[in-house]
Amino acid sequence: MTVTAAALARSTSIPFCVADITPEARAAADRVLSGGWVTTGPEVAAFEDEFAAFVGARHAVAVSSCTAGLQLALRALELPAGARVLTPSMTFAGAVHAILQAGLEPVLVDVDPETLMPAPEHVAAAAERGPRPSAMVVLHYAGAPADVAALAEAARLPMEFVVEDAAHALWTRAGGRDVGTLSGATCFSFYATKNLPLGEGGMVTTQDDRTASYIRRARLHGMSKDAWRRYLPGGTWRYDIEIAGIKANMTDVTAAMGRAQLAHLATWQSRREQVAARYQAALADLPGIRMPIESTGGRHAWHLFVVQVARADAVSRDTVAADLEERGIGCSVHFIPVHHLRYFREVLGDYAGLLPGTDAAADRVLSLPMHPRLSDAEVDCVCEALADAVGAPW
Ligand SMILES: Cc1ncc(COP(=O)(O)O)c(C=O)c1O
Repeated sequence: MTVTAAALARSTSIPFCVADITPEARAAADRVLSGGWVTTGPEVAAFEDEFAAFVGARHAVAVSSCTAGLQLALRALELPAGARVLTPSMTFAGAVHAILQAGLEPVLVDVDPETLMPAPEHVAAAAERGPRPSAMVVLHYAGAPADVAALAEAARLPMEFVVEDAAHALWTRAGGRDVGTLSGATCFSFYATKNLPLGEGGMVTTQDDRTASYIRRARLHGMSKDAWRRYLPGGTWRYDIEIAGIKANMTDVTAAMGRAQLAHLATWQSRREQVAARYQAALADLPGIRMPIESTGGRHAWHLFVVQVARADAVSRDTVAADLEERGIGCSVHFIPVHHLRYFREVLGDYAGLLPGTDAAADRVLSLPMHPRLSDAEVDCVCEALADAVGAPW
């Protein structure tokens, strides 16, 4: 394969994100790999305890991904098949697959085109469209705090029937608390690009003993005892299958890395805050660029820094993105709304005209590089390139 000059330029430039796997995490993985027990075991139990303490939750249950966590948290609600679940359309496709895979029906909610999250009026409108919803998934988009209590009230749902998608929101504070304790269950992601990168992995936190016990069994085939407990001294090969399960457990290798990575999170977050502040200072007056809304009454985890290319008469988002990429600056789009994707159009029906805020934002959102390894000089370089791309003086 011939490597083009543009590809070469890209390979030496500013990536959209960097997964920082620390020397401590590598050493922890190595220790587990050398120890003879590599699947779910004592490291997972320790990571769960430490993560629960970190967010102040009663329980944390480790899973293979946030997507699996969302599915399990929804199944733990034991709703009738086909019950309706509210979710923003401005979300990751996996979060909507999770609702379908739990045997439930997603009902898409519009967003405020400024905050890119549903406001209570959007939730109320969606809840009134058709039979009453039984549950809701609330997304803390980009790491910004969503007002979970206000959204639950708008949906007329008790908090136990709210599941938070906190894939972006480890470190977010909302409603005066760390995200992870507000609703029935909260699902975190440790995917390679996330604030606590492990490659793959997820965690569900809950205050409810029954939910924790359900997810703990359902993540491993519905078994009454996992392998570690069966092989412990005095353990037995016997087990029962108590509930319908899936295969979504975390390995001890991942969990050991997670424990080591968690010790770095505060430092990483403080760098994310500095990067966000530098972008804000540099881009605030750039014509045609709308800045992310600053969090009110909470703490932003700055998983993403999403601007909107918002001057309809000028250059398009796609042109700006292509221009940045041409200069070797990685960017992304969060998200292509779910109702714009073919499979979901087929399964969920036609939402044309029903989600105007989402449709308006869909062609404008652009995620700039955001990770703790970004230097000030790199942030300045991105800002300069963005100004150039939108045709504004720098
Ligand atoms: C909003 C949102 N929800 C859920 C997920 C799924 O996370 P995971 O890859 O851990 O399943 C993602 C991943 O990108 C996401 O952005």
